[in-house]
Amino acid sequence: MKQRTAYIKTFGCQMNERDSEIIEQLLSTSGFIPSPDVDNADLIFINTCSIRAKAEHKVYSLLGQLRQYKLRNPKVLIGVAGCVAQQEGEKIFQRMPHVDMVIGTQQIYQIPELIQQLDAGVDRLKPAVRIESSFNIPPFQKQSDFSPSSFPSPSAFKKFVTIMQGCNNYCSYCVVPYTRGNEVSRPVEDILAEIRYMVTKGIYEITLLGQNVNSYGKTNPVADIPVHFAGLLRQVADIPGIKRLRFTTSNPKDLTDELMRCFSEIDTLCPQFHLPVQSGSDHILKLMNRKYTIADYLNKVETLRKYQPAIALSTDIIIGFPGETEEDFEQTMTLLNSVRYHSSFSFKYSDRPGTRSASFSNKVDEEVKSARLACFQSRQDEISLERNREYLKSIVDVIVEGTGKNNLLFGRTPTNHIVHFPPVEETPLKAGDGIKVRITKAGQHSLTGKASGDNDTP
Ligand code: 5AD
Ligand code: SF4
Repeated sequence: MKQRTAYIKTFGCQMNERDSEIIEQLLSTSGFIPSPDVDNADLIFINTCSIRAKAEHKVYSLLGQLRQYKLRNPKVLIGVAGCVAQQEGEKIFQRMPHVDMVIGTQQIYQIPELIQQLDAGVDRLKPAVRIESSFNIPPFQKQSDFSPSSFPSPSAFKKFVTIMQGCNNYCSYCVVPYTRGNEVSRPVEDILAEIRYMVTKGIYEITLLGQNVNSYGKTNPVADIPVHFAGLLRQVADIPGIKRLRFTTSNPKDLTDELMRCFSEIDTLCPQFHLPVQSGSDHILKLMNRKYTIADYLNKVETLRKYQPAIALSTDIIIGFPGETEEDFEQTMTLLNSVRYHSSFSFKYSDRPGTRSASFSNKVDEEVKSARLACFQSRQDEISLERNREYLKSIVDVIVEGTGKNNLLFGRTPTNHIVHFPPVEETPLKAGDGIKVRITKAGQHSLTGKASGDNDTP
């Protein structure tokens, strides 16, 4: 019998990317092989994101397009996972009756069982749903039982490792506590065992993942975890074979001096830090329930730079939160000009179901939000370019990820900058190989250079 193929489309964050890897592994246990495109797939899985209204619209627009696809290929199975699945549940079937299964964020391990059920043709007209209240999640399931080598990956030298799920912060704009549930930290031994295993499979770059890694070990309804995030980081760094270590995402309120110190004490911890600030106005931060002030934040930025002068900082910004005045926005611009982030992700505020700010009354006009966003982004672009120019003529360590446009190789630096450079004739390079590159050109979003052996005179 011809082996069935599965196509997975992932929206949203790195948590979702990691979940999609697990879904891919689960599907392989159900006899599916990956399909590079949607056209010939027997199963289509959409792993969804609902962080902003726009992200959710994209999901529905793709699901809408799949209606025709299903009419042409009635046998194809369509599954929806992720945060929109968790948030909307059975409502998805009302809008999208061609969908066969909807899986909540904590139920992905039930996918093989659901497929079996659909294959048995129990009732193909009745969709399969597995959603539990996100407040009632089981402890971490057996992530470490999944072999990182059981699926092909173009960047097989680096992996995400989930260390915690959910979030207890309840920032007033954020849907995550509702879609991903309460914070649960994964036991240290599980995490270490998974990483040790990955190292034996050739993985040497690890990114520790969680909605708020800084509060790792603080809240745990499942087991006593006598370690905080900085302690975990040190234990991971001690695993022989790890060359690059990163983590995301951090809430500034939980960022301790001990964690910041890790940037000067752990050699393999990359000098890169994503520290979402959301707004430059204390008044707005209070309405957002962020629990820090700009003065606290700037102190932490200064401390980070003291411990690691080379650190590249990035952030997230919400523009046009309800009640944001021109003056509040100016304070965000002032913050941008004082921190001078290497890069940032900025978004127009949108109401999310069930969040507190959705019911705030003084919403900012769409046109005002768009104008402020454009202003913020154009200044960030200028700063990113200036920051990137600081690398001109320097030699950076690059780990190759592949071949991109114009036959140039590309890879990343420890600061997570993408570097493009021509192949080196004498030393053919493949994904995972390290090379020193001298930077010759700086763009807004990437750097270009030459393997430094080629060009050793500045
Ligand atoms: N509207 C706009 N942006 C949002 N984010 C989270 N919730 C919202 C919302 N309701 C942004 C924040 C967060 C990033 C992942 O998405 O900046 O850090
Ligand atoms: Fe999107 Fe948040 Fe869900 Fe990630 S956890 S997919 S960012 S809503």
